[in-house]
Amino acid sequence: MSADFLPIKAIDYIEFYVGNAKQAAHYYKTAFGFQSEAYAGPETGVRDRASYVLVQDKIRLVFTTALRPVSEIAAHVHMHGDGVKVVAFTVPDATAAFEETVRRGAEPYLHPQRQRDDEGEVVTSGIHTYGDTVHLFVERDQYEGIFLPGYRRWESTYNPPSTGLRYVDHMVGNVDWFQMNTWCRFYADVMGFSQLVSFDDKDISTEYTALMSKVMSNGTGRVKFPINEPAEGKKKSQIEEYLDFYQGAGVQHIAVGTGNIIETVQQLQARGVEFLHVPTTYYETVLDRVGDIDEEIRDLQELGILVDRDDEGYLLQIFTKPVEDRPTLFFEIIQRKGARSFGKGNFKALFEAIEREQALRGNL
Ligand code: FE2
Repeated sequence: MSADFLPIKAIDYIEFYVGNAKQAAHYYKTAFGFQSEAYAGPETGVRDRASYVLVQDKIRLVFTTALRPVSEIAAHVHMHGDGVKVVAFTVPDATAAFEETVRRGAEPYLHPQRQRDDEGEVVTSGIHTYGDTVHLFVERDQYEGIFLPGYRRWESTYNPPSTGLRYVDHMVGNVDWFQMNTWCRFYADVMGFSQLVSFDDKDISTEYTALMSKVMSNGTGRVKFPINEPAEGKKKSQIEEYLDFYQGAGVQHIAVGTGNIIETVQQLQARGVEFLHVPTTYYETVLDRVGDIDEEIRDLQELGILVDRDDEGYLLQIFTKPVEDRPTLFFEIIQRKGARSFGKGNFKALFEAIEREQALRGNL
């Protein structure tokens, strides 16, 4: 394994460009249990955009909208619909991160810039990744403020409780036909990641559709990015449907970890989050496949939670429907009980469920 020339402390934040950030923020508070943290906009001296920062334990999401028609943000939303623009990393040295990744072939997005306010100083820089998505490097050791300079604390009188979401487990990118290896090489060569797992179209296919996937991980193993590309099947791959509607490569799903998936999913369902339907036949055979588990299968079936096992333990997971009208980004809720894999055994059951939704939209 190569030396970690890009020490990443954590995913600092995930920023969405959306059509209406005020309403998106309300949805993520109400439905997912995120808390108000910070705000930037005309009231804080930012003229061209409004941004709302939400947190839940270690997960930080930013929702940004354009205030004017001629803007990079407005163009992004016009092209892609609501989606993830920025995956930011906390790093000890944002200048070195930029110089080293660009030297290794990254396309610059943001040259290192220093921003200061009364709370200290932040250095940010950024590079392009797949599609119109970018990675920012955030150096914030010298900063005591709420989020970044330009933001103020967002005091809200509306504070729905958490749903128990704790951290970003992994984030998946969908890339175009035959581009998976290119982007895996990007994460290896430019970011110093290494490959954890690979699935080919025989692992992940149903009667109709197929995809291929490789999982790239940083040196500490804390940041895990599976990369998917479509594969040939009888009908349109779900990855291709994503690419059609997102107009290219982008973030497909964000998997968030919880310590109690049953309580979390009960909360999310009660608050209106829609999940993929799992066929009841799935539960007739699941225990033959995964063996003994701590949970009651009845509880899992009631909520539609899937189970998979690997050499190290098992995991519980469930997938939401897309969280916007285009069939693009969705969320995964995951609870790990030893397993460090990604639910390969569920792919077939899951994809058959996704395809039923795809067929309802007339896109299969
Ligand atoms: Fe996943």
